[in-house]
Amino acid sequence: MQSPSGPPPSPVPGASGQPETTPAADASSGHRRIAIFGDIHANLEGLEAVLADAEEQGCNDYICMGDVVGYNANPVECLEKVRAMGCPVIKGNHDEDASGTHSLDSMNPVAATALEWTREQLDEDQKTWLRRLRMVRQIEDFTVVHSTLDQPSNWNYVTNRFDAMSNFSYQFTQVCFHGHTHVPRVYVKDGKVQEVPAESVVIEPGSKYFINVGSAGQPRDGDWRACYAIYDLTHKLIVFRRVEYDIETTQRKIRDADLPPMLAERLADGR
Ligand SMILES: [Fe+2]
Repeated sequence: MQSPSGPPPSPVPGASGQPETTPAADASSGHRRIAIFGDIHANLEGLEAVLADAEEQGCNDYICMGDVVGYNANPVECLEKVRAMGCPVIKGNHDEDASGTHSLDSMNPVAATALEWTREQLDEDQKTWLRRLRMVRQIEDFTVVHSTLDQPSNWNYVTNRFDAMSNFSYQFTQVCFHGHTHVPRVYVKDGKVQEVPAESVVIEPGSKYFINVGSAGQPRDGDWRACYAIYDLTHKLIVFRRVEYDIETTQRKIRDADLPPMLAERLADGR
């Protein structure tokens, strides 16, 4: 499948522990729109649709929230596309599992079957790239993590405001983006922690935000369309985007690869 013109390559971000800047931070235009996308899960059509939409929306920076591989049928293509972008990428649990040699017996059997298959598709260089991804990064004045800041390698799921409270204890930036559940959500700490609808969010002084950007490749909120977020730094505004993609092609590839058929079926349900 022909790729749409992707974003321009960006240099590899700075040293560990230092706030990183993305290329447009140095640009004179001053208008900053960052596409924040993740949980691609080897869905090339979902990824390409998100990147094309982000370009149309005027995004000039990109951040990948991890889980580049797993579940769907284009792990190599998705990994190489994201790697070629040169944007910050953090590690997801499927990136860790696909690049390791440990037993997957304790996993959900469908996920494990797909990961075993993914291990066979990736070469050593691709696995090394996945293995070296970092769990947490601070970029500009915000943080990104696949699951949570309190125990990033435990891959905890945040499904309600009580889960979000543990994260806020370790969140030292005003805004933190995450993924992992494949459900877009917004948690705000303003004295107390509350969940607000995952719609447009204006970053207000004095509040902290923990924001799940949803999934580009396997949404689970009942909406099959690929999901990502745009952070407009200039206007301190975050918007969620839903993008239609060629789901039939993604489903056909899953079946052709002899991956579990339910992986194709669930895409249509957004579950
Ligand atoms: Fe995921």
